[in-house]
Amino acid sequence: MNHGITIALSKGRILEEALPLFAGAGIVPLEDPDQSRKLIIASSHPGLRFLIIRASDVPTYVTWGAADLGIAGKDVLMEQEGLDLYEPLDLKIGVCRMAVAEAADLAAHDAPQRWERVRIATKYPNITRRHFQARGVQTEIIKLYGSMELAPLVGLADRIVDLVSSGRTLRENGLVEVEQIAPISSRLVVNRAAMKRKLRPIETLIEALEAQVHP
Ligand code: PRP
Repeated sequence: MNHGITIALSKGRILEEALPLFAGAGIVPLEDPDQSRKLIIASSHPGLRFLIIRASDVPTYVTWGAADLGIAGKDVLMEQEGLDLYEPLDLKIGVCRMAVAEAADLAAHDAPQRWERVRIATKYPNITRRHFQARGVQTEIIKLYGSMELAPLVGLADRIVDLVSSGRTLRENGLVEVEQIAPISSRLVVNRAAMKRKLRPIETLIEALEAQVHP
């Protein structure tokens, strides 16, 4: 049986902001995950290792116990329905929001409160469906895997549901935010069985990371 701790991380923005939190807790990967092609990276802390995987796969690895813990965006956690993970800590990194956006010239005479039926391009079909169902608006959802901001520019959809951080991507593509769906940040997630089996080391790790979170 594996008595060590395995943590699932994804490359990109989350990793950039997560590594300083781990470093503050005295845990440093022995290789730079952005440079290395290795998918399992040992750390300065004996028995603690990192898995480098796609952001949307983090909940899967943690749910199945292939990783004890992981860092996942709230967007990914909201999109994947039926997850049974312990979510003990908001790391307050990867802070942004999930929003509905449309072309600025449409927004100039649009009234979201009167929408009855909308066509939305998004990477987040479940969040989109739930949001508009709760508002009593019918949706036609076009699933995309990236560059959602392009869809309204070429007539694929009138509106998009996507993450907005600085707002620069929307601005540079002539889109504006017309409705906010949820605030988003990255969360520490823990496998429920691992939490029981490895309670002490996992609790110690959660406390060490919590001490690094900016208020
Ligand atoms: C996200 C999101 C937007 C952009 C928003 O994409 O999908 O396109 O960031 O950021 P901004 O408001 O600061 O411009 P990301 O770069 O994470 O790539 P992705 O499309 O692979 O998710």
